[in-house]
Amino acid sequence: MKVRKAVFPVAGLGTRFLPATKAMAKEMLPVVDKPLIQYAVEEAYASGIKQIIFVTGAGKSAIENHFDHSCELEQTLMARGKDAQLKELHDLIPTSGSIIYTRQNQPLGLGHAIWCARNIVGNEPFAVLLADDLIKAEKPVLKQMIEKFEALNASIVSVVEVPKADTSKYGILDADALVDGVTKIRGLVEKPAPENAPSNLAIIGRYILTPEIFEILEGKEVGAGGEIQITDAMARLLKTQDIYGYRYTGTRFDCGNKAGFQMANLAFSLERPDLRERLIPYIKDLLNN
Ligand code: G1P
Repeated sequence: MKVRKAVFPVAGLGTRFLPATKAMAKEMLPVVDKPLIQYAVEEAYASGIKQIIFVTGAGKSAIENHFDHSCELEQTLMARGKDAQLKELHDLIPTSGSIIYTRQNQPLGLGHAIWCARNIVGNEPFAVLLADDLIKAEKPVLKQMIEKFEALNASIVSVVEVPKADTSKYGILDADALVDGVTKIRGLVEKPAPENAPSNLAIIGRYILTPEIFEILEGKEVGAGGEIQITDAMARLLKTQDIYGYRYTGTRFDCGNKAGFQMANLAFSLERPDLRERLIPYIKDLLNN
C-alpha cells in the first residue's frame, strides 16, 4: 500500500529555545528564511505525500497561518509588483483540504501525539516527520525511506550513528551493523544511558509506520521520562512485525538544540551564492580575531 499521509507532531513546547519560543512555535524558527516546518512539509510533498496531518497544540496558530493565504500581505505585494515573492508565498499553500489539523490536548509524549492522528490516518501505512531534524539530501530522506518501505514491506525508522555518550538523547536500536544502509531491528530502547545502550544507532525524526502501531499506542503505556513513547510502541510491534533501521543518505542537522540549529543556518546560508559571498570573508575575519 502506498504511503500517502504524513503526521507532523508539532505540539511540543520548545523549551530549549526559550525565550525565543515563549510566544512563537519552535517549528517556526527560521533556517535562513524558511521555517523548520516548511522544510519538513516540502520534504514530504517531494516524497509523494498527499495529505499532511499536523498534531498541534495551544500557541501554535502561526503554523496554520503559515500554510494559508494572508490577504493583506498578498495585496500589498501585488500592489508593489513583487511578483516573485507573491508566487513563492502562493506555492507554499497546499490545496484546500490536503492539510488537516488535530490537537494533542495533553503533553503526554510523542507516542501520544502520533496516536492523536489515528482517526485521520486510518488503516494505512503513514510517515512521521519531526521538523527538528532537518536533513539536507539530494533525494529527500522520506522518499528514500518510502522506496525502502515498498521493497521491504515493513515499518522503517531512519537512523544515524551517534557517539556512545549521546545515546541518552535518542531512541536506540538493538540491531546488527548496517548492511547497505539497512538493519533488521531486534529491539528498541528510548534514551538509554551509554552503559545500557545496545548500539550506537540512534533513531532520528523520520518514521514509516504501519497502522497496527495505533492499537499498541491505545494502551497508553508510559515509558522513559514519564511519557508515552513511540519507541516503546515500536518495540512492542516487533513481536508481531519486522521493523528496519535505515541509514539515510544526507546530512542531518539537529535543530532541536542550539548548536545544531546554528550549524543548519550556516550550512544553508553558505549554499546561497549571495550570502556565501558576504559570509565567508566575515567568518574568516571572525576566526582570525
Ligand atoms: C524523539 C524520540 C527519540 C528520537 C528523537 C529523534 O525524542 O522520542 O526516540 O531518537 O525524537 O529526534 P525527542 O528529541 O523528542 O526527545
